[in-house]
Amino acid sequence: MNNVIDVNRLVEKAIVARSNAYTPYSKFNVGCAVLLKNGEIVMGSNIENASFGLTNCAERSALFSAFSQGYRGDDIVALAVVGDTEQFISPCGACRQVIIELVNDNTQIILSNLKGDIKILDKHALLPFSFTSKDLE
Ligand code: THU
Repeated sequence: MNNVIDVNRLVEKAIVARSNAYTPYSKFNVGCAVLLKNGEIVMGSNIENASFGLTNCAERSALFSAFSQGYRGDDIVALAVVGDTEQFISPCGACRQVIIELVNDNTQIILSNLKGDIKILDKHALLPFSFTSKDLE
C-alpha cells in the first residue's frame, strides 16, 4: 500500500517548502514534505536563529508540524527533503535521531536536490545502531 507513491510530486512539494525557509545566516534553504496516509502533505522548512543552535531543520519543522496536527508515525507514508546540494541532501544527525523516533519502519525517506538526484531509503539505513525508546526499557 505504501509502495506506490508519486516521488516527483512529493519532491516538488519539498521544493515549494524550501521557498519558505528563514535562513538569514546560512542562506542555505532546505524544504521537507511529509506525505500522510490520507493523501495530505505537510511541509516544513529550516528556520534559523541568531543563537545558531536554536535553528530548526526542515525535516524537524515538517515532522513537528505533522505531529502537532495530531498525526503519528504510522500516518506517515513518505518524507522528502530537498536542498541545493551537489548530491542528494544528507540530513544532520539531530534530524536522523528525530526521524528514527517519529516515522515508522515502512516510511520512505526521499533525499533529493534541485538537480533531481534522488536516494530513497528507510530510517534504519539513515541511522543504523540508533538509540531508541527500546533502550530505555
Ligand atoms: N539543514 C536542514 O534544514 N536540513 C538538512 O538536512 C541539512 C541542514 C539546515 C540547517 C541550517 O539552517 C542550514 O541548513 C545550514 O546548515
